[in-house]
Amino acid sequence: MTFTAQIGNVVFQDIIYNSSGPRCTTLEELRALGESESSAIMMKSCSPEPRDGNPEPRYKEVELGSINSIGLANHGYKKYIEYAAELKEQFPEKPVVVSIVGFCPEDFVNLVTAFQNEPNVDVLEVNLSCPNVVGKPQIAYDFETSDELLAKIFQIPGDKPIGLKLPPYFDPVHTAMMAEVLKKYPISFITCINSVGNTLIIDPEAEAPLIAPKWWLGGLGGDYVKPVALANVRMFYKLLWDRMMIIGCGGIKSWVDVFEHLLAGASLVQLGTVLGKEDTACFARIQQEFYEYMEKKWYTDAKQIIGQLKEL
Ligand code: SIN
Repeated sequence: MTFTAQIGNVVFQDIIYNSSGPRCTTLEELRALGESESSAIMMKSCSPEPRDGNPEPRYKEVELGSINSIGLANHGYKKYIEYAAELKEQFPEKPVVVSIVGFCPEDFVNLVTAFQNEPNVDVLEVNLSCPNVVGKPQIAYDFETSDELLAKIFQIPGDKPIGLKLPPYFDPVHTAMMAEVLKKYPISFITCINSVGNTLIIDPEAEAPLIAPKWWLGGLGGDYVKPVALANVRMFYKLLWDRMMIIGCGGIKSWVDVFEHLLAGASLVQLGTVLGKEDTACFARIQQEFYEYMEKKWYTDAKQIIGQLKEL
C-alpha cells in the first residue's frame, strides 16, 4: 500500500520526499534522490548566479536536530535547468521540484519565468524564508513585501503549480495575517516550515558556538522544531484548507512524525535533518514503518487522516 498525492496535475507516487535542505545541491545528490524511495526530487534553492554561501563551519548535527547557516550555496539556476533535463531522462516518473530564491523582486520574476518555460521541471517552490543571509530578512515575515512580490510572481504566464516555503510563525495573529495575503493568489501549496531561524547552539566543552556565520546564529531543524512545525501546519490548514495544500516539514524522522503532520493537515511531507543524518535510506525506512502502521489501523487513503486531528 502507498498513499499518493497530486499538486496540480503532477502526481506524487508517495507522500514523502526531501526538503530543499541537505543533500540536494549537486547532480550526484539529486541522482541519489532519484534512485531512492523519495517521491520527488526537490532541488536546493537556486539563485540567479552561483553562490559559495557562508563560511564554514556552517552545518552541524546534534542529538536533537541540526543547525545550519549555509547561506544559499548553490550552482545557479542555469545549472539546475541542466540537472532537471538529466534527472527527467533518468527518472521520468518522479516529479522534479525546483526551489527558487532571489535577492530582489526581479530575481524572483526572472527565475519563475525561466522555470515556467522549462519542460523538465514539474513544480516550483518559491523560498520566502531563508534566515541565513546577512542583511536580507526573511521575506515572509514582511506581509506587505510578500504581497507585492506575490502579485508580480502570479502575473507570470505558465501552468506549473507554484508553492511557497514559509518560515515558522509564532503568533496566530501573524499566521492569520499571512493567510489573508496568501488567499489573494492561486498558490498551489505552502510548505510549513523552513528552519527556525537565528538560533544559537553552544558546545559547552569547546565553550564555543557550533557554527561560524552570522554571529553564530543558524536555522534549527529536527526534533527541536516539530511542535513549531505542527502548529504552523495546523493553523494554516484551518485557515486555508479549501484553497491550497499544506506540505509538512519539520522534525520528521519516523512514521509517527509523518502521521502527526498528516493529522495536523499536511497532504505531503518533506524530510530535511534526517536526510542529512541517515542519507537517502531514510525514505524507505520511514515509508515502511508508516505503511505498517496504516495497515494495522486499516487506513487505506491519506484523506482519512489529513487534518483529522480530534480537537478537544
Ligand atoms: C541556507 O542555505 O542557508 C538554508 C536555506 C533556507 O533556509 O532556505
